[in-house]
Amino acid sequence: MSTPDLVIVGSGFFGLTLAERCATELDLRVLVLERRYHLGGNAYSEKDPETGIEVHKYGTHLFHTSNERVWEYVNRFTDFTAYQHRVFGKYQGQVYSLPMNLGLINQFFGRAFTPDEARALIAEQSSEIATEDATNLEEKAISLIGRPLYEAFIKGYTAKQWQTDPTELSPDIITRLPVRYTFDNRYFNDTHEGLPVDGYTAWLERMADHPNIEVRLDTDFFDVADEYKGTVPIVYTGPVDEYFDHREGRLSWRTVDLEAETLDVDDYQGTGVVNANDQDVPWTRVLEFKHLHPERTHLPGKTIVVHEYSRFAEDDDEPYYPTNTAEDRAKLLKYRELAKKEPLVLFGGRLGTYKYLDMHMAIGSALSMFDNKLKPYFSDGAAWA
Ligand code: FDA
Repeated sequence: MSTPDLVIVGSGFFGLTLAERCATELDLRVLVLERRYHLGGNAYSEKDPETGIEVHKYGTHLFHTSNERVWEYVNRFTDFTAYQHRVFGKYQGQVYSLPMNLGLINQFFGRAFTPDEARALIAEQSSEIATEDATNLEEKAISLIGRPLYEAFIKGYTAKQWQTDPTELSPDIITRLPVRYTFDNRYFNDTHEGLPVDGYTAWLERMADHPNIEVRLDTDFFDVADEYKGTVPIVYTGPVDEYFDHREGRLSWRTVDLEAETLDVDDYQGTGVVNANDQDVPWTRVLEFKHLHPERTHLPGKTIVVHEYSRFAEDDDEPYYPTNTAEDRAKLLKYRELAKKEPLVLFGGRLGTYKYLDMHMAIGSALSMFDNKLKPYFSDGAAWA
C-alpha cells in the first residue's frame, strides 16, 4: 500500500472493527500494523494440528453481549453456536457450581435451604462487619457474603490472583459479590451468548478481508513510527504508557501464565473451566477447550488442558488485567493529558485506555469512535478528535 489514509496500530477487535468500518463505509485505505505473528489480538485462537481442538492462545474467550448494535455487527462476520458458559470451582475435594447460587449454598452447608432461608443465612453471616466499615478486601467480602463463603470461595482464589493476602488488598477492588438465590448457574446474564461457529480466527480474518485493508504482521509501530507520525491519522491500540516511553512511569498489569498439555484421555474434567479455590493449589483455573465446542468432532482419546497461573506482569510480560491502583490512576490521568495533545493520534482499546474490556465492549467502543471521531473527520471535514 502506498501512503494509507489511516494507520491502525494493533489488530485486536478494537483495531479491526475500525479498519473494517473505515474501509467499508468510507472507502479509506487502511494499514493495520501488528507486532505479533498473527492478527486478532488476545482473541486469537488456533486449531491444534494433532487433535483438531481450537486453542484460545491467550486464555478462554467467551462471547456475550446485550448490546444489540454490537450483536448485529458481529453477526455480519460469523454465526454463533448455542454455547452457554458455566464455571465450576473445586474446594477441599468437592466441586461446586459457580457463580455463588442456591445449589452451591445448599451443597456447602449440607442443607436444603429455600431461597428465603438461604438469604436469611447469608444476611446473618455477613452482619459480622458493616460494609462501610471495611478497611480491606477481606472485611469487605465478609460484609457482603459472610465469613464461611468468603473463606471457601474468595480468600484463596483472590490471594492467588493478586499474590497478596486479601487483608492487604484495598476494599475498592470489589464493589459487589453477587449471590443468586436460585439454581441459575449461567455465568453470563447477557441477552446474546455463543462461540463463533468456525472459530475466532476465521471471524477476525473476515473482518480484515477487504481490498482496502492491509494487515502488516510482525511489525512494531515504534520501528516505523517516523513514516506516519504527524502526517497520517493514527489510531493506536497498544499500551498508552509505552507510546509515551513510560515518561510518567509504568502502568501496572496482572498477567497469566498458561501451561498447555495434551493428555491421553478423552475428557479430563467434563467442562470448559474449573476454578481452583484452594489456596495451596498453585493454579487459579484449569481450562479444557474441547468442551467449548460440544458440536464439533475431535480426535477421540485426547484432550488439551491448560493450567492458568496469575501474577503481576514484569516489563516484558503480556499485560492482561489492569491492576488499577491509586498510583496507576494518577499516572493514567497524566497519560490522558498527553494523549489529548498528540496530533493526529487517537488512543483506544484495552491497552490504549488501560481498561479491562470484554470483546463486545472493545467492539462497541470502536463503533462509537468511528461514529463520533473518524466519520466526522473523514467525511464531513470535522476537526481531528
Ligand atoms: P487486544 O489486546 O486484543 O489487541 C491489541 C493488539 O495491539 C495486540 O494484537 C498487540 O499485539 C497489538 N500491539 C500493541 N502494541 C503494538 C505496537 N507497538 N505495534 C504493533 N502492534 C501492537 N473478553 C470477552 O468478551 N470474553 C472472554 O471470555 C474474555 N476472556 C479473556 C481472557 C483473558 C485472559 C484476557 C486477558 C482477556 C479476555 N477477554 C475476554 C478480553 C478480550 O481479550 C479483549 O476484549 C480484547 O482483546 C480487546 O481487544 P483490543 O483490540 O482492545 O486489544
